[in-house]
Amino acid sequence: MYSASMRTILFTGKGGVGKTTLAAATALLCARRGHKTLVISTDAAHSLSDSFEVQLGNSPQPIVPNLFGQEVNALEEIEKKWGEIKTYLTALFASQGVDTIEAEELSVFPGMEELFSLMEIRRYSLTSEYEVVVVDCAPTGDTLRLLSAPEITSWYLKHIFPIQRTAAKAVRPVANRILPFPFPEDSVFEAMKKLTTQLAEMKGILEDHRRTSIRLVINPEKMVIKEAQRAFTFFSLFGYSVDLIIVNRIIPGAVQDPHFKTWKTIQEAYLRQVEENFAPLPIFSAELYSREIVGLDLLAELGRSIYSDADPAGLFFAHNPIQIKKADGKLILSVHLPFVEKSDLDLLQKGEELFIKVGSLKRNILLPRIMLNHAIEGAKLEKGRLKITFV
Ligand SMILES: Nc1ncnc2c1ncn2[C@@H]1O[C@H](COP(=O)(O)OP(=O)(O)O)[C@@H](O)[C@H]1O
Ligand SMILES: [Mg+2]
Repeated sequence: MYSASMRTILFTGKGGVGKTTLAAATALLCARRGHKTLVISTDAAHSLSDSFEVQLGNSPQPIVPNLFGQEVNALEEIEKKWGEIKTYLTALFASQGVDTIEAEELSVFPGMEELFSLMEIRRYSLTSEYEVVVVDCAPTGDTLRLLSAPEITSWYLKHIFPIQRTAAKAVRPVANRILPFPFPEDSVFEAMKKLTTQLAEMKGILEDHRRTSIRLVINPEKMVIKEAQRAFTFFSLFGYSVDLIIVNRIIPGAVQDPHFKTWKTIQEAYLRQVEENFAPLPIFSAELYSREIVGLDLLAELGRSIYSDADPAGLFFAHNPIQIKKADGKLILSVHLPFVEKSDLDLLQKGEELFIKVGSLKRNILLPRIMLNHAIEGAKLEKGRLKITFV
């Protein structure tokens, strides 16, 4: 059903680190190396057009042979997929005495714009039109929220609308008389069902570490690295795999200006730290140019300097952040969490769900069938992996 070969590469990182520039340079190099490539921006503050110096819109525009670009119009996507549900929710809240403007605000959720933009990945993987889709994402904070959104949204849909559609038909006449809120129409149920399915499909694509990779862009600076570590923990917890770290804006060795001497020492120290912290992930780097990097020529030069002969569409590090293994007759679920302390962790098993809390991040994992009759025996943090043993 899905094109098994479509590669999705997501660029994320703190604001201003160079996500758009590196996404554009990577996409351009992919195209020049013969892959039919689409580069899309899901960041509401689109800047792909400025980077390529080509005006892009909500449908793929040709940029150079093999390369197409799109700046997703989130509002259009939300209206298509959420419009009907939103109308119902607004009516529901209004029936509870919430005033209209507030009711409208309650019927959307944070991160929704990027989530619905990201659903384009699912659409393109159905059409098999492109070999590679490069995504210029919003800054880490937002991307984090949105990547947990498919799970949270599915949960929300399942628990808020647990009533089966068939049952709904029978109960609606009664329900509308006795319930103090409007009962959803069939079309609302249909829209919910469709959305739940599409979200699950998108989650499947994002979690498939052979098809989807995240590239974390950083600068050799303290706060940027810290945020990248938090982001990495989050991605692992949700089963999304990072295949490459790109350190951008490294001051070139040839720069001898005394003003930058201290900067260079600081950058070297951070580079070593990044290599240690994120090992065994590969680290690529890009120099700080003497001017801003816009237009095809500079983007092409940047792309070549980062990847040299490697295929930019390739998988630079294959790993599955969440694994289930069997040892001594026991099942072990392990999660790659290299930046986490024992005291940050909390675990709770409730029926078929496992709740993992890491600091302020939370995830509930639906346990696979084989684990349903197993209880947690113990958990330990070992070499950057959280290992949970079930008996
Ligand atoms: N290595 C670099 N050398 C010089 N300028 C850069 C470099 N990387 C990015 N820039 C410039 O920095 C600015 C911000 O980069 P951008 O890619 O838009 O960041 P982000 O998408 O992360 O907010 C742009 O003007 C871009 O041209
Ligand atoms: Mg950007």
